[in-house]
Amino acid sequence: MTDTKKIALVTGANKGIGLEIAKQLAEAGVTVVMGARDPRRGQTAAIALTQAGLPVEAIEIDLVRDDTIAAAAAEISARHGRLDILVNNAGIVDAEDGPPSGARVGAARKLMETNFLGTLAVTQAMLPLLRRSAAGRIVNLATTLGSLAVNGDPSSPYYEARLIGYNASKAALNMLTVQLAAELKGTAIVVNSVAPGYVKTDLTGGNGFMTPAEGARLPVRYALLGPDAPSGRFVAPDGAVSW
Ligand SMILES: NC(=O)c1ccc[n+]([C@@H]2O[C@H](COP(=O)([O-])OP(=O)(O)OC[C@H]3O[C@@H](n4cnc5c(N)ncnc54)[C@H](OP(=O)(O)O)[C@@H]3O)[C@@H](O)[C@H]2O)c1
Repeated sequence: MTDTKKIALVTGANKGIGLEIAKQLAEAGVTVVMGARDPRRGQTAAIALTQAGLPVEAIEIDLVRDDTIAAAAAEISARHGRLDILVNNAGIVDAEDGPPSGARVGAARKLMETNFLGTLAVTQAMLPLLRRSAAGRIVNLATTLGSLAVNGDPSSPYYEARLIGYNASKAALNMLTVQLAAELKGTAIVVNSVAPGYVKTDLTGGNGFMTPAEGARLPVRYALLGPDAPSGRFVAPDGAVSW
């Protein structure tokens, strides 16, 4: 019998929104490969969900270590033969980020290397596996702070959030969404940028309006989009966001 269960990879799935995305996908019957840069933290998170009866497994994947990305792609291919869902969730902020006049350049570089280049590397490595899916879904964890339109709009509540490294890294991630969606037009794979909302996690220092479970909802919805799914969209819980 052919195994029709969907297979997902969620990066940065050991905590925060990623952990909740993994949990909600698994609750929907998807087999979830939980990516974590620290194998111990990944195992601990996966064991907790497995003990709750959910179909998850852990894998080491660090966005800034190409060897772990290549090994993870080979391992997923060996275990499952394909990938139906890639949730590019892993991401960082940096305490030395700030406005363009004063942010430490090294911090901005690190943010670009993780949030943009690392996500690009993971996506490239997983694409051959996604091409083997009948309906591939890529979800990039975006933020309204990555919108050029919002950053330039004095009436926006986000106008003063001047984090040149983080915001630029997420704007670059949006470019990946736009370009990859165009490149994959006519294939079975769709790719979208999904902003989860302002979520209470370590990344926000525990500030926010939503729990991680609430923040996971929209990314999960886009991961589970059915036939005729839209591609190349930038959405937040209250609707479409301007690029
Ligand atoms: N929270 C919000 O309000 C909010 C809003 C908009 C967008 N987002 C986005 O949502 C995503 C998840 O954020 P979160 O709030 O859940 O943050 P979080 O609780 O800090 O979790 C971030 C996850 O990413 C992992 N990670 C960091 N660097 C990595 C690397 N080099 N390789 C692999 N994994 C790495 C972390 O692993 P470790 O545990 O090992 O550090 C952790 O699992 C991020 O992309 C963030 O930009 C969040």
